[in-house]
Amino acid sequence: MTTDNQDHSAQTEIYQPPARLVNPEAGREKPWVSSMAEYEALYKESINEPTKFWTRTANEMLTWDKPFTHVSHGSLKEGNMAWFPDGQLNVSYNCVDRWAMKDPNRVAFVYEADEPGQATKVTYGELLSQVCSLANVLSSFGLRKGDTVAIYMPMIPEAAVAMLACARLGLVHTVVFAGFSSSSLAERVADARARVVITADEGLRGSRPIRTKAIVDEAVQSCPEVEKVLVFRRTGNESVPFNAPRDVWWHEAVAAQRPYCPPVPVNAEDPLFLLYTSGSTGKPKGVVHTSGGYLLGASLTLKYVFDIHDNDVFCCTADIGWITGHSYVVYGPLALGSTSVIFESVPTYPDASRYWKLVEDHKITQFYTAPTAIRALRRHGDDFVTKCDLSSLRVIGSVGEPINPDAWTWYNEVVGGSRCAVVDTYWQTETGSHVITPLPGATPAKPGSATFPFFGVELAILDPTTGAELEGNDVSGVLAIKRPWPSMARTIAGDHKRFLETYLKPYPGYYFAGDGASRDADGYYWIRGRVDDVINVSGHRMSTAEVESALIGHHAVAESAVVGAPDELTGQAICAFVTLKDGFEANDTLKSELVKEVRTRIGPIATPKTLILVDELPKTRSGKIIRRILRKVVAGEADQLGDLSTLSDPSILEILIREVSLSL
Ligand code: PRX
Repeated sequence: MTTDNQDHSAQTEIYQPPARLVNPEAGREKPWVSSMAEYEALYKESINEPTKFWTRTANEMLTWDKPFTHVSHGSLKEGNMAWFPDGQLNVSYNCVDRWAMKDPNRVAFVYEADEPGQATKVTYGELLSQVCSLANVLSSFGLRKGDTVAIYMPMIPEAAVAMLACARLGLVHTVVFAGFSSSSLAERVADARARVVITADEGLRGSRPIRTKAIVDEAVQSCPEVEKVLVFRRTGNESVPFNAPRDVWWHEAVAAQRPYCPPVPVNAEDPLFLLYTSGSTGKPKGVVHTSGGYLLGASLTLKYVFDIHDNDVFCCTADIGWITGHSYVVYGPLALGSTSVIFESVPTYPDASRYWKLVEDHKITQFYTAPTAIRALRRHGDDFVTKCDLSSLRVIGSVGEPINPDAWTWYNEVVGGSRCAVVDTYWQTETGSHVITPLPGATPAKPGSATFPFFGVELAILDPTTGAELEGNDVSGVLAIKRPWPSMARTIAGDHKRFLETYLKPYPGYYFAGDGASRDADGYYWIRGRVDDVINVSGHRMSTAEVESALIGHHAVAESAVVGAPDELTGQAICAFVTLKDGFEANDTLKSELVKEVRTRIGPIATPKTLILVDELPKTRSGKIIRRILRKVVAGEADQLGDLSTLSDPSILEILIREVSLSL
């Protein structure tokens, strides 16, 4: 199967790795991989001699309490994958102690607080004490290896301290993005069976306070298993509710503890964390990541994809509530002993220079953000960028959604000054770390393509209907991975069946990524977007079913259907179609109420951009909503609706198209 746009893809302009990276000035290290030949040799080794490749890298990157004797076990067919299964290690030891012992003054985190000019640093020595004190607090709560702790915090170093304190004791953390509503938080806390929630009094974003603790209070009302809520004082607002003895102040609790706590060795396969993500059905899935394989994936990809060397300052702007924050704000950088920037604010506070000022102030060497931020900042004009000194930058990255070639070119030329490598990294919550990505000193880039697989990742493009693997170049289909890799998710918490059914059963023997993709004439991979009922808004995954069930929760709603509509800024936007119960009048007040309902139930990220009240939804004769039709209509492709033979009442189409054109 071939399509037109692949041919265009193959013809796109190719950008060679910048000379400054390939032939560095005196005193600068060469890139870890500095040619395609080197990449290919390493890639081949990872595929043809995996035991040799992974034994070497796992021993180079990580310190093991008990060395592993087996590299991997199990298969995608059986869903029983395990990596380094007889090895033992401790993740917090690997991320903190190793560097604190070598050089306690090395900076682990640069914390750029919400208000500009208030940056502080946390050294590895300080981090070790903070992690240990907090681990002792968690022990004093009676938590033991295998117990789960929920973390609902702003982007402050203490959020990372909380994650690492859990890892120190072998506790499993589940970080919930602090923009989620109390009911979304409650659902995750209950599903994870967390006994402790770690939070802050308030958050601050663009000088606006966020009522973090109050949201936790609402959530835990329906979570009887929660015994303790540990509260970090971020703003000090005295009106924040506090209910002792359930609530405990962080600063009081850590003051009572010894700042050393021995790390608890865990098995490589013991879970490090659960992270909830959206799937095709309404209920979020708690994706389970392990201690050994995950840490290896996060650190190895960061080292090679951002070409991290000593004295680099790495900045990933993602929130720790997402996988990108886990792998590239916390675990990857710390496992390399690097310096990671924690950014609490928003890119436009106090103005659209904030990111670039951040780069200038902290001499950031690698910068990693999302296409939606790049597109939004580009709209503010080049001056906000060019007035800052960005000469420290070497590699700039993008993640979360396809980056359109225009945005790529602007990022490369205006932010990177055509002197940096741009890495468009493709991966997912489930993959744990990058799976398709350029290497900055080696890969000739094509704007909009994530290029080639990372080491150990064997990709396949499958025919979506037959499941047959499409060999050769110039093919399009669904993206799959042919063999397990160390940082892949192992299961869904409490629901291994769902794990198998979502990822491993659709195409037996393969991991099914849920994305459409093509491989162009030069073998470059192009991600074409989700093929399931998942919408990607600003790089955040939303399940259409989750938004639909929030709408149906409103007393006036009879039915709802949610689809993604193309959006210049956010990639996709949520478009909701709603039919009302008898007796309710369609008007703007009700529409706003319904939009508010979704915000309250899920959180602001799920806010529908468009909500259309219709008399009828397109359905099959058996009553199933045909979302495909709605997707086409909102994409302005009403002339390409395809086979309509299953549509029970074709007369509704014309009305639907008219209503959409009036609303969008
Ligand atoms: O559709 C792909 C898109 O984001 C999805 C994964 O979302 P999530 O698990 O939230 O993780 C986001 C950060 C890793 C993928 O299935 N996606 C991610 N990166 C890219 C991308 N689409 C195109 N290009 C990318 N570089």
